Amino acid sequence: MAKFIGILTAGGDSPGLNAAIRAIGKAASGSYGMHVIGFRDGFRGLMENRIVRLEGEALSGILTLGGTILGTSRDKPHRMPVGNKVMDMTQVMADNYHKHNLDVLVCLGGGGTQKNAYRLLDNGMKVITLPKTIDNDVPMTDVTFGFDTALGIATEAIDRLHSTAHSHHRIIVVEIMGHNTGWLALGAGLAGGADVILIPEIPYDVNKVAEAVLQRVHSGKHFSIVAVSEGAMAIEDVTAYEAALKTKEKANNKKDKAKAKATLARIEERRGGSALRLSKQLEELTGLEARVTILGHFQRGGTPSAADRLLATRLGTACVQFIDEGASGVMIAARGDGTEAVPLKKVVGKRKTVPLDHPWIESARYLGTNMGD
Ligand code: F6P
Repeated sequence: MAKFIGILTAGGDSPGLNAAIRAIGKAASGSYGMHVIGFRDGFRGLMENRIVRLEGEALSGILTLGGTILGTSRDKPHRMPVGNKVMDMTQVMADNYHKHNLDVLVCLGGGGTQKNAYRLLDNGMKVITLPKTIDNDVPMTDVTFGFDTALGIATEAIDRLHSTAHSHHRIIVVEIMGHNTGWLALGAGLAGGADVILIPEIPYDVNKVAEAVLQRVHSGKHFSIVAVSEGAMAIEDVTAYEAALKTKEKANNKKDKAKAKATLARIEERRGGSALRLSKQLEELTGLEARVTILGHFQRGGTPSAADRLLATRLGTACVQFIDEGASGVMIAARGDGTEAVPLKKVVGKRKTVPLDHPWIESARYLGTNMGD
């Protein structure tokens, strides 16, 4: 009997999502005679039963499109805003899943989506996931789709910032996405030849950064490019954050707990504006003029790179093969040139950070790039 597949895309959009939808849709209907529908706007569409048929024309001309033709959202099944309430809507989703006689639901997403998909398993749904995010922070896969495109965009931005930094003898602080991991900032910083690279995995000392900039001035280089990950933190903030976390855990009264929570929130907020603060501090410490460029969502938009199209396509077609074999509760991971079905329980609740002995960090250090420590 022909199988029925549902697909949804959740979390931040990412280049390569449409390539993956196309690969699943074409392989499923063309090679296996399966039927495929998509739910709009992530888990919200599954709850509201808003569907689109993913067959024939619907799959044409989407390979090169950025974003996701299905739309996305950051809604979680168990904590869904409905009217002015937040409710657990998992059962409603299960009912819709069964209404369409689905054999499996494929969820395309990052760390949050893996967790949400895993929860659906307990409610009688069969689920398979694919790893997508520009942050590259999903564990148990070599890489996620979207990362290569964002890496290219951030690298090109650094290339372009070089000439203006050089002409004006300025420090340019360029903030790069990546959530709480440094894959994007490190990769783009290294590929773009940034002079300083700051990532969340290595707490930075602003004085060390200023010293590195001044050393360049002394050697006749009157400009510096500082590539900073949006999640990077100064040493003093990391120390304060860890202390507040401990206080929160140990607190045995409401007042102390609330105080620790407020401290954590304050530090998180500072993290948000860290590029601006860093640029001001560097101006004061070096006497040089500094400017900030926040790349933001620019890094998520537009045509996926060839590498992301290939990755999304091979994960998508492999996903259909696994569905044919009856797989469920797994993420289809990229492993070398091939793919592997990894149990979701090994993926959820973890984040792939940059190991401190990663070859990119080693290379940066050999080059004399300042890492803020
Ligand atoms: O996870 C992808 C990502 O782009 C992160 O790099 C960034 O921190 C976050 O999403 C931004 O989220 P939003 O699009 O909800 O502002």
